[in-house]
Amino acid sequence: MSTKHSKVPNRMQRCVVITAAGGPEVLQMQARQIPQPVAGEVLIRVKAAGINRHDCNQRGRGTNPVQSDIPGLEVAGVVEAVGEDAGGVEPGMAVCALVDGGGYAEYAIASSALVFPVPDAIDMAGAASLPEAAFTAWYNLFSVAGLKQGESVLIHGGTSGVGVFAIQMLRALGHPVYATCGSDAKCAAAEALGASLAVNYRTQAFDAAVTGRIGREIDVVLDMSAGVHMQANLEALAYRGRIVHLSSGAGAALHTPLALIMKKEARITGSLMRPLPLPEKAAVARMLKTAVWPHIGAAIKPQVAHVLPLNEAAEAHRLMEQGNHIGKIVLRVA
Ligand SMILES: NC(=O)c1ccc[n+]([C@@H]2O[C@H](COP(=O)([O-])OP(=O)(O)OC[C@H]3O[C@@H](n4cnc5c(N)ncnc54)[C@H](OP(=O)(O)O)[C@@H]3O)[C@@H](O)[C@H]2O)c1
Repeated sequence: MSTKHSKVPNRMQRCVVITAAGGPEVLQMQARQIPQPVAGEVLIRVKAAGINRHDCNQRGRGTNPVQSDIPGLEVAGVVEAVGEDAGGVEPGMAVCALVDGGGYAEYAIASSALVFPVPDAIDMAGAASLPEAAFTAWYNLFSVAGLKQGESVLIHGGTSGVGVFAIQMLRALGHPVYATCGSDAKCAAAEALGASLAVNYRTQAFDAAVTGRIGREIDVVLDMSAGVHMQANLEALAYRGRIVHLSSGAGAALHTPLALIMKKEARITGSLMRPLPLPEKAAVARMLKTAVWPHIGAAIKPQVAHVLPLNEAAEAHRLMEQGNHIGKIVLRVA
């Protein structure tokens, strides 16, 4: 196996490791061997790494033998080396990528199929905030829910990292989009991003508020509330609508009114992005490159709430778990 590279050192001095199951304090900086790209992979010198709720959950569970003990599902940086069959990705390219762990580090491996160019107008922190939200939004809305041209979407968690991307993407692609959020300030932000209406679910019944305002029901609900909105989701749902769950919280179960499911022929589903087989992730990447990437920097702008240095990863997790952020939290690595 051969690799194309500039001069790659053997060791990186800084990566953040989950040292035990626990709170943010279990994240510790370590030196590590730099991983080497095999066929179909690229090695990225990381400039910025996005933080996702998944990273906090992984930290809480602790390490396992299958996943890297270095968290991080998305990075932006410069390609340092490539394995064989890297699909046209070359050393020196500025890229962002979905990675299977290992993102909170000076160097990370990505499948070349999951690498995107960084548009000129976007800085590295902004670029690092895009991949996980883009894959999650596209896959769940179009592949899992089968969203069709012109159908409407209601997003719970409109100012989450996923939500700020999904709202802009849906608007850019011509879908009516609505949101719920946990505060008036978050609702204002969701509307500024393109939601036609954002409802504070803590102070208002969102099903009546949304359907009352628009005069019809919603085709697809994207839900990260761990099932708490089940009844109201079904009330707001159109005939043959779909509800897609992104979060099971701490092992939540659904208590569903069967009569409403039957009356509406509702489909209730959900997915997990990380274990999705690579060919399916690659298919999503191809769709994103064609349909969504041309809008990046224009109709779809990165929404970065906080940028912290890599050695403050624990603080970044605290910020995420406090839940006041609007948009993404990103680590600056270089
Ligand atoms: N299944 C998958 O493959 C997949 C992939 C990516 C993300 N996700 C999930 O999608 C969600 C968004 O991810 P993210 O990284 O964008 O997270 P994030 O920025 O931390 O956003 C999470 C948002 O969800 C809302 N929320 C509603 N109920 C909640 C609850 N019980 N606990 C915590 N937050 C709650 C909160 O907004 P309000 O204050 O407005 O309620 C919060 O801001 C997370 O639940 C994540 O686990 C799933």
